[in-house]
Amino acid sequence: MLRPAPGLLSMVADAPATAIWGYGGTVPGPLLRLRQGETLAVRLENGLDQPTTIHWHGIRIDNRMDGVAGMTQDAVPPGEGFDYRFTVPDAGTFWYHPHNRSWEQVARGLYGVLIVDETEPPQADRDVLLVLDDWRVGQDLQIDEASFGSMMDWSHAGRLGNLLTANGRNEARVAVRSGERVRLRLVNTANARVLELALADHSPVLIAVDGQPVTPRPAGGTLALAPGQRADLMVDMALAPGASVPLEVRVGDQRHPAAWFDYEAGTAVRDHPLDAPLALAVNGQLAAPDPSAALVVPLAIQGGAMGHMPDGTHPGGHMSMMGNDGSGLVWALNGIAGMPGRPLFDVPRGRHVVIEMVNDTVWPHAMHLHGHHMRVLAGSDMGGSDAWRDTVLIEAGQSARVGLVADNPGQWMIHCHMLEHQAGGMATWFRVGA
Ligand code: C2O
Ligand code: CU
Repeated sequence: MLRPAPGLLSMVADAPATAIWGYGGTVPGPLLRLRQGETLAVRLENGLDQPTTIHWHGIRIDNRMDGVAGMTQDAVPPGEGFDYRFTVPDAGTFWYHPHNRSWEQVARGLYGVLIVDETEPPQADRDVLLVLDDWRVGQDLQIDEASFGSMMDWSHAGRLGNLLTANGRNEARVAVRSGERVRLRLVNTANARVLELALADHSPVLIAVDGQPVTPRPAGGTLALAPGQRADLMVDMALAPGASVPLEVRVGDQRHPAAWFDYEAGTAVRDHPLDAPLALAVNGQLAAPDPSAALVVPLAIQGGAMGHMPDGTHPGGHMSMMGNDGSGLVWALNGIAGMPGRPLFDVPRGRHVVIEMVNDTVWPHAMHLHGHHMRVLAGSDMGGSDAWRDTVLIEAGQSARVGLVADNPGQWMIHCHMLEHQAGGMATWFRVGA
C-alpha cells in the first residue's frame, strides 16, 4: 500500500524537521523492487487533503495504469483509493510520483523509486541509490509555500530550490569500501533544476539512462541530469580507506555536495578493479524506429519569459486536464497552450513516428513521453544515439529529433518535466490505436 500523507523529514542534522508530504509520510517513499517481467500490485490510499494519483515514470505500462488524472483515470479524492496493477517489461531504474498538481505534490516530497532488477545483473559489490531533490525552503527549513503558483517561476526556469537532498538528507553519507565496484543509480526528482553532477577522483562509467542500457562509456566531467531523468553508473571506488569524496552539484562556478562517499577504514576489498563486464543485457521488445518509414510530427516549444507566444495561440480546451481557467498558461506547444482537445498525433499501433522538437524559447526543457521510450536521432542530450530515453533535455534554442515505434495502445502525454512548465501549458498527448 502506498499512502501519500503529511509527515516530517529531518533533512539537516541537528536542525528542525520539515513538514512534507510523502508516501507513507517519508521522503523518498518506499523503494519498490521487483524482477523484470513480474507484476506489481499496489493500492494507493489517499491520505492528503487534495486529490492525487500515481504515475509510474518510464514504465512501458498498461495505459489504464498510467496515473494521469483527467486522462487515464480520475484523480483519487482524499480518503479514497485506487488499485494499480501492471507488469514491468524492462529492467532498470524508474520512479513514481503524482500526476495531479504535480508541481505542488512533487515539490512537497511525493516521489519514490521503482527498481526492476535484471534477470542477470552485472557484477557489482554494492547497489547505491541516490534520489536527488532540490527544495525551496525558508530559514526555518519549512517548504516555501507562498511561492507555489508563482508566475515568476512558471514563466521562467520553474521552481528552483535552495536546499539539495539525496534520499531526503542534505549531504547524505554513503559508506563504501576501498576497491569496491558500486552501481550508482541517480534519479532527479527536482521540479525544475537540471543537476550538473560531478564525482571527482573517480572514473564513473555510464551504463544506463532512463532505465535503458547504453553501451558503457566514460562519464567523467559533469553529467547533466534533467528533472525526471535517471542515470546508472558503475564506479570503482579507487581511493584509499578513510577517504571521503563528494558527489557535487555544480551551479555556475559553485559546487554543492549532494552526497559524500565515505571510505571505511581497514583494508581494501581488492587491490585492482573488478574484472567483470559492465554492460547490461539489452531490454526486450524495444523496436527500433525507422525514420524513413515514419510519420514526421513537428513539435514547436514556445512561450515563457523573454520569449513570445506565436500569433493565434489558444488554450487547449482539454480543461479536465488542467483544472484552470486558462490563466497561467504561459507556454505553448505548436501554438496551443495546455492540453489540446485533439491529440498531437493519432496512429495505428506499430506506426513509426519521428518527433521534431524545436525549443523556440530561452529556457531548457525536459520533454517527457509517456508509455514509450524514444531514440534521440539528433540532439545534444547525454546518452548518445544508442540511448532509449523517456525524457530528453533540450537546451534553449536547440532542437531534438526523436524516434519511436508507437506500439503501446492508449492515450499518452508528452510534456515538459519542469513541472511548472507542464502546469503552465507545455503539455500535449498522442493516441495509439488498439
Ligand atoms: Cu514523470 Cu508525466 O511524468
Ligand atoms: Cu520546460
